[in-house]
Amino acid sequence: MTALEIYTERHAIRKEANDIKDELISWRRFLHQHPELAFEEENTKQFIQKKLKEFGIESKILAKTGVVALLTGKEQGPTIALRADMDALPIQEENNVPYVSTIPGKGHMCGHDAHIAMLLGAAKILSKKNIEKGNVKFIFQPAEEIGGGAKALIEEGVLDNPAVDAILGLHVYPKLETGKITSEHGISCAACDFFEVEIHSEGGHGAHPHLTVDPITTAAEVISSLQHIVSREIDPLSSAVVTIGQIHGGSANNIIPSTVKFSGTVRTLDPEVRKTMEERIDRITKGVTQAHRACYQLNYQYLFPSVTHNESLIPILEKTAKDVLGEGKLTYSKPSMGGEDFSFYTEKVPGITFRLGTGNEAKGTTYSLHHPKFDVDEDALEIGTALIAKFTLNYLSNS
Ligand code: NI
Repeated sequence: MTALEIYTERHAIRKEANDIKDELISWRRFLHQHPELAFEEENTKQFIQKKLKEFGIESKILAKTGVVALLTGKEQGPTIALRADMDALPIQEENNVPYVSTIPGKGHMCGHDAHIAMLLGAAKILSKKNIEKGNVKFIFQPAEEIGGGAKALIEEGVLDNPAVDAILGLHVYPKLETGKITSEHGISCAACDFFEVEIHSEGGHGAHPHLTVDPITTAAEVISSLQHIVSREIDPLSSAVVTIGQIHGGSANNIIPSTVKFSGTVRTLDPEVRKTMEERIDRITKGVTQAHRACYQLNYQYLFPSVTHNESLIPILEKTAKDVLGEGKLTYSKPSMGGEDFSFYTEKVPGITFRLGTGNEAKGTTYSLHHPKFDVDEDALEIGTALIAKFTLNYLSNS
């Protein structure tokens, strides 16, 4: 392509997204004002279905509150899926904006309102394109925050009929300025698991510790020893996190309680390391509690695997970034130890995600995700929309 052709290409898709800028903002603001938590996205679901219908796209409900729609091309070809998550968080919004959340204690503080608006925008643009070959599957996914939505959709067949050949996801990112995006080679997000330990004994009087077993001192040693997993057992070139986020036990200064409970999260990048973590936690807890004559119970929950990007989709993302944003706007980052249930899709089909810059100091949109003052620079909405639409067209014309 000549420089002029590249410029024209960029101009065309940016213009199409810019033409619907006001709609994107109004959709996002409506959703922002009416946040709904995981698997409760009833109004959100209806809103999405209504908009898709206006664009002439039929949709169906999966996983209670998920919306799935298909746009078919003239000829048979590959199917690309585009995913937006839908749920809000149990956070009281602290922004002073006209579109502030109207539901006490609930807010779109992770930007999923923007994700929905941008995917709807891409659906509107793509619905007018008369796609030559292949299909586009729009997946509006409930319950990302609690990690259940992607799994439920897959169990109900979201990746089948027609079978999905590739999937794209994105997340707004306030730490990157508007107009830029970032992605990762290989692993993008960590596997996320939870665990809970209960240490018990008979309890007794605080003045007579020798007549009982103390679960508090035992729990303190177990917690310290669990930190040896990352510092002494895992290859320093691999990555793992063991965080204890809660500890509960005791009721008075002079009582030795009968139980102490603590719980935490384990994050790993390498699936092989992930498989070993439950055994390590169990072995250490068993050894330390036995040494101090206490009993224990471990409840280990596997939540979601790591998100792994498919290398074959990197050139398409690079071309898309160049087409929409120009040179040098896509950078690569290190994987995040945060979790994202997009991993359930990338376990089954080739997938890729990118983070969309929404940070703007002057507009106050640099608060981190899940912060009560988190907000999105709305100029990023048309950029995200253009990127999703262009990635889709690039993928379908490439295959
Ligand atoms: Ni999120």
